[in-house]
Amino acid sequence: MPRQILVTSALPYANGSIHLGHLVEYIQTDIWVRFQKMRGHDCRYMCADDTHGTAIMLRAEKENITPETLIGRVWDEHTRDFAGFHIGFDHYYTTHSEENRKHASNIYLALRAAGLIEVKTIAQMYDPVKNLFLPDRFIKGECPKCGAADQYGDNCEACGATYSPTELKNPVSAVSGATPVHKDSEHYFFKLGDCEAFLRDWTTSGALQTEAANKMQEWFAQGLANWDISRDAPYFGFEIPDAPGKYFYVWLDAPIGYMASFDRYAADRGLDFDAWWGPDSKTELVHFIGKDILYFHALFWPAMLKFSGHRVPTAVHAHGFLTVNGQKMSKSRGTFITARSYLDARLNPEWLRYYFAAKLNGSMEDIDLNLDDFVARVNADLVGKFINIASRTAGFIHKQFDGKLAEGVANIELIGAFQAAADSIAAHYEARDYARALREIMALADRANQYVADEKPWELAKQPEAVYRLHEVCTVALNCFRLLALYLKPVLPGLAGQVETFLDVAPLTWDDAQTLFIRQRINPYTHLMTRIDPKAVDAMIEANKTTLEAAPPAPTRHAEAQTHAAQPAATAETIGIDDFAKVDLRIARIANAEHVEGADKLLRLTLDLGPLGTRQVFAGIKSAYAPEALVGRLTVMVANLAPRKMKFGMSEGMVLAASGEAPGLFILSPDSGAQPGMKVK
Ligand code: MSP
Ligand code: ZN
Repeated sequence: MPRQILVTSALPYANGSIHLGHLVEYIQTDIWVRFQKMRGHDCRYMCADDTHGTAIMLRAEKENITPETLIGRVWDEHTRDFAGFHIGFDHYYTTHSEENRKHASNIYLALRAAGLIEVKTIAQMYDPVKNLFLPDRFIKGECPKCGAADQYGDNCEACGATYSPTELKNPVSAVSGATPVHKDSEHYFFKLGDCEAFLRDWTTSGALQTEAANKMQEWFAQGLANWDISRDAPYFGFEIPDAPGKYFYVWLDAPIGYMASFDRYAADRGLDFDAWWGPDSKTELVHFIGKDILYFHALFWPAMLKFSGHRVPTAVHAHGFLTVNGQKMSKSRGTFITARSYLDARLNPEWLRYYFAAKLNGSMEDIDLNLDDFVARVNADLVGKFINIASRTAGFIHKQFDGKLAEGVANIELIGAFQAAADSIAAHYEARDYARALREIMALADRANQYVADEKPWELAKQPEAVYRLHEVCTVALNCFRLLALYLKPVLPGLAGQVETFLDVAPLTWDDAQTLFIRQRINPYTHLMTRIDPKAVDAMIEANKTTLEAAPPAPTRHAEAQTHAAQPAATAETIGIDDFAKVDLRIARIANAEHVEGADKLLRLTLDLGPLGTRQVFAGIKSAYAPEALVGRLTVMVANLAPRKMKFGMSEGMVLAASGEAPGLFILSPDSGAQPGMKVK
């Protein structure tokens, strides 16, 4: 029985460009959807732009255009970027639609009728010049904890503290520069607390990953706060029924956008909306999201659906965040990479799809795009292993056999092993463990290459008496190649399409894995995929670097080695204060220190950074310190050094120690009173 599955990815905000972090999610979802379709299921992939809110309203104002013009332009950009990465939405809509207004209003009215809406007066920060209530992100001031200037209203980038904007010292409106005032206003709340019994139950329905279900338990333990779903005019969004001047908060109508996108799609095709969204729906509803928006999808959304008479989600799958070269994406490092800049650098989108897939295992762990590893891995796996099988065998089929495969193959053991893998590879795709699926596929590719290397068709081709053998070997190899293309097709739809053309076969489905590929004529082989040129990657990073004025451009990783004249001075070359500010030095308490088995210089330190958490660091100080002597003392560490994978584990920073001509090694200590996590500057 084919399953009916409605799949969504989170709706990207309509006030920014799609970047590679976003693409983790859309690629993860797209692979799953393509896999389900290949299996013959009735799977529909819905998405839309998330268009409402203060940020979009203000940005349009700044550009002197209407919000509608802005979101129209962004919709064009987003859909073009997604198409560039083969993201195959069945419908990509906008939350600023009549369908969404209708569903948002109906859901709200149903919740109100169920007694789940309450009205309360609350005080909020208000910009008296702009006449606007200010979202947290639009208030700046000094951090109430560490005093750092120019911090946002919700958290401090200097010390990591979180707080409410009313706690900021010397607050200013980021919109007008005015000092905000407290102002009372009536707000509408969704009584999430009243939904707890249902939510506790839903949590155990198998809809969530274990990590997410655990997170839910923490939230229950903290108590579910009622949710503020209204914002005052001026606001770009939908007005709340019977509440003039009050608008739905963007996060109220955003998930309803999934439903609205489907509604429009269903109407255009004559599908029965209620069969998919009604309370008795038998279809699956599967949401892919990032871990940062779990609260909305695992609490508010199921409760909204349940108590407004809809079906609830079958699954919410959360993924982790993307880091680049081990660090948070950064504009100054050029690693805040937009989807457009990747395509403009003429990098093949399927390289990224493959790399992300190789890293995605269905968990909420963060995933790292290491650019050197990206180049090495894609070149080795896709070109070196996969494409290689066809490029070494297809030519003989044309030169010697008029483009036709053998009538049969005597030895089908190898092909049989490839076919037998279909179920287990499918199970890994189903479980979103693409990393494991690809490992299994690449292990098969290794076997096929070994077979070609053992049989040496290029030598068989020189022996007239080996002509049958040659025909068989090439036919077996191309069977393997076809099966690999089939298994890789959810990840590499474009390449699989080229392979289908080359082999002259109908679009491959999962069931085709069980057929033998013989007798048929194939098209001449043309090269299917090139290697990644590291220079293109460097160019992309350069293109993403925003202003580091005056500083000469940093040499790229692949530039010719630069020869530096020896520095005669005793100290290193002079740097500006900005360079120094890049080094995030922090006070750390050595919470633990221990020997590392097999390492004669290193100690493993656990460093407590107070509000910033703990770090593991391997320090080469064993010759000077016994571990017991270190535990409990304060020292200074570099907190923003890229994590380094060492033989013994990850090292997430560096402690500072002095050494010189004279023997000895001396770690630094702050004066008394310094606290873990404090910035050293
Ligand atoms: N508009 C909301 C979602 C509403 S869904 C009803 C939103 N938009 S977003 O543009 O900020 O993010 C869209 C998706 O991309 C989210 O699932 C988010 O987790 C994901 N990612 C954004 N940046 C990311 C990384 N750096 N890494 C991985 N995923 C990231 O949230
Ligand atoms: Zn602070």
